[in-house]
Amino acid sequence: MTRVLTGIKPTGTTHLGNYVGAIKPSLDRAATSEESFFFMADLHALNQIQDAQTYRTWTYSVAASWLCSGLDPDKSHFYRQSDIPQDLELATILTAFTPKGWMNKAHAYKAAVDKNTEQGLDTDAEINMGLYTYPILMAADILIFDADLVPVGKDQIQHLEITRDIALRFNSNYGEDVLVLPEYEVEAATQAIPGTDGRKMSKSYDNVVPLFASKKEWKKAIYSIVTDSSDRHDPKVAEGAPVYELFRAFATSDQTADLKKGLEAGELGWGDAKSELLNLVVETLGDGAEQFQEYMNNTDQLDQILKEGAEKVRPYAVETLSRVRKAIGLD
Ligand code: TRP
Repeated sequence: MTRVLTGIKPTGTTHLGNYVGAIKPSLDRAATSEESFFFMADLHALNQIQDAQTYRTWTYSVAASWLCSGLDPDKSHFYRQSDIPQDLELATILTAFTPKGWMNKAHAYKAAVDKNTEQGLDTDAEINMGLYTYPILMAADILIFDADLVPVGKDQIQHLEITRDIALRFNSNYGEDVLVLPEYEVEAATQAIPGTDGRKMSKSYDNVVPLFASKKEWKKAIYSIVTDSSDRHDPKVAEGAPVYELFRAFATSDQTADLKKGLEAGELGWGDAKSELLNLVVETLGDGAEQFQEYMNNTDQLDQILKEGAEKVRPYAVETLSRVRKAIGLD
């Protein structure tokens, strides 16, 4: 059985773009016979989020988002990185097998250096060691569970290449069967979901429609979506209009065709399209949103789920670490 592993960095509000582009495809994939591991990469988020209350909240809110999107913790493994100390011990060990030059070339670090250089700042200004060694911790996340396959977005390919290089280097020193060499699969270009300003939906553009929210919050976001200035009776171009594209991502093809026809014929205005989108979001995600609020009001329940998840997977991590400790001569 193929063991598929996915790490989720809890650094902000989960939005519709995350749902359509990442959460839904991952959960659909987990529904097949593969053995799937989903974990909250909370220690990775610490490099960015250094306010205790915010940090705690994001981890809960992102975990709740996945659960309310249909992640079944009885069928998939679902846990918090920080509950697996073996991951961290392995990360420390792997540090000895990672040339510093590889870290210098890692995209996230290089981008931060380039930004500093552009701004005339010291090369390493505001860059913490967590960002610098990020690829090593990520390698440990994957290798500690003998993952066979890691589905990734394009931005994570380099991290997977580094993971494989670290594992190869380790194995060539201690024996081919100590660490499992993970494969990765680049997710087919998922639909780019437009945000309220028409650019790609992204928390860094501040243009998101939250995944689980109250009707009032959804309404506020959806009614702020940009449109052209045509009025109701003008024939409009639906294709490419953010409100239409968002609608399309959730609607059936019949619903989509109806909206398109109405807009093009000048029977529906942009306001009508927004109201239809709002109804559709409430209909599709309303139950999840209620459940989400329940989790957020009762985070003990989330702690319990994540703790049980960690207990279920920890034996695998213990086994890998013991293999590694023996191989290197610690045990
Ligand atoms: N780096 C990933 C991201 O930013 C998150 C992540 C951490 C991850 N550890 C992982 C992904 C292990 C896959 C496997 O999205």
